[in-house]
Amino acid sequence: MKSNPITLDKSLPEFEELIHKTVQLVLNRYKNIETADAYSKYTPLQVREWFNEPLPQEGMDMDALFAEIKEKILDTATLNIGPKFYAYVVSGGNQVSILAEFIAAALNQNVAKWHLAPAMSEIEMRVIQWTSKLLGFSNTAGGVLVSGGSAANLTGLTVARNTVFEKHQIRKKGLFAMKPLTIYASEETHSCIDKSVELLGIGTDHYRKIPVNKNYEINTIKLTEAIENDIKNGFQPFCLVGSIGTVNTGATDAINELADIAKKYNLWFHIDGAYGGLVASLDWLKNKVKGIDRADSLAVDFHKWLYQPFEAGCLLVKNWDTLKDAYFKSASYLTSDVNSDGRKDFTEHHFQLSRNAKALKVWMSIKAYGINKIKRAIQNDIDIARFTAKKITEYPDFELCTPSNMSIACFRYVGSVRNVNANPEKIDKLNQLLIPALEKDGRIFFTGTKLKNRPVLRACFINHRLKPEHALNMLQIIREVGQEVEKSL
Ligand SMILES: Cc1ncc(COP(=O)(O)O)c(C=O)c1O
Repeated sequence: MKSNPITLDKSLPEFEELIHKTVQLVLNRYKNIETADAYSKYTPLQVREWFNEPLPQEGMDMDALFAEIKEKILDTATLNIGPKFYAYVVSGGNQVSILAEFIAAALNQNVAKWHLAPAMSEIEMRVIQWTSKLLGFSNTAGGVLVSGGSAANLTGLTVARNTVFEKHQIRKKGLFAMKPLTIYASEETHSCIDKSVELLGIGTDHYRKIPVNKNYEINTIKLTEAIENDIKNGFQPFCLVGSIGTVNTGATDAINELADIAKKYNLWFHIDGAYGGLVASLDWLKNKVKGIDRADSLAVDFHKWLYQPFEAGCLLVKNWDTLKDAYFKSASYLTSDVNSDGRKDFTEHHFQLSRNAKALKVWMSIKAYGINKIKRAIQNDIDIARFTAKKITEYPDFELCTPSNMSIACFRYVGSVRNVNANPEKIDKLNQLLIPALEKDGRIFFTGTKLKNRPVLRACFINHRLKPEHALNMLQIIREVGQEVEKSL
């Protein structure tokens, strides 16, 4: 047979050569992650201009394309894979998962229906079981891998709404003609829960953000008052969300007590463990998450503390049927005659039809490293956060704002003010201006937040490539940039 002039394929030897060239590009980037700046500092206009070209009509030479990719994409990428990145909750990925992503893309499996991806479907089920057991959630959990924490929470809260109101036929009738549903979480809960509440038609007017105690954990007395108040006023409390590791400070709510409250008021109990859920794998922290097994659903994020490259999140529930009841939709074109041999079709248990094989990287990296090594990496992050917090208390030009919870340290640079109570307005201004100044500097990548309405610097350590000296270097850079900012005040 003559070769097909239309195919997009290169010959196998040519494909092999391109793979080798791609590998070289990647290795080149990994060579300098210790030394390179964390941020490339180009402006949006500059970066936009690089890609300002009309739709290519004809293909280009691959070497020229590789050169363009190196210059414009690899060399300028924000370096979250390196140990100079402390912003948000971002891990640096891991090497084995890079290989898994390559294989997954090459195989192009669609984990929608079992027969489309037999091994990948079973691997996803295995990853769900491993995770659930590891975290002490359940030995027989159902679950689904999704894009990340936001999706895992939305997936869980959809299940909550559809399950609690099944008898109202909510999937058929919607929320119309129902008493308003109310949902509860602490005011420190991640904003993705707001998005879920909006998407689910509940409306943020019915989202009760409960005040926190001095440790930024939900105040359970205020929570109970809010639920009682809503019942009295004709609302329908239906769901309570607890956090294991809030995004601001790493605080963990009193999970067991929340489970008691959920039981008392017949609420679905969902946990957002996107950031901190994985700490339930550490023996000495199990007590902190006591009651995790009493949750109805649990969101965890593998691209956070399981060191996976984006994207990978996971929603766990107590059994598969709950997912199926919440999501299954029949369609003649999706029905296959073989369904009695124990196969699990993920599309029947989630919103998505086509799904990539996210579980491969999780499965492959856990097998390659072993969970014990991953647990040691989590512990190392916690140790570095504590080390940093201790250093901050020793430095007179810094102020620690929260004890290091999980692996987050919140603090302020106070410069020459020294006495933290002496000039709060100046300190607030200094810390506010420090964030854009650090971005302009580019050596480290750093963000802040607000605690009790005052700006703070916030460092989150979830990168297995981190060492204590990186944290010391981070504080030194903040000091150097901070001194310049203070001079400008
Ligand atoms: C506690 C918490 N929940 C949810 C999310 C959202 O996760 P994702 O960014 O994967 O959607 C985050 C992200 O940082 C988080 O820290």
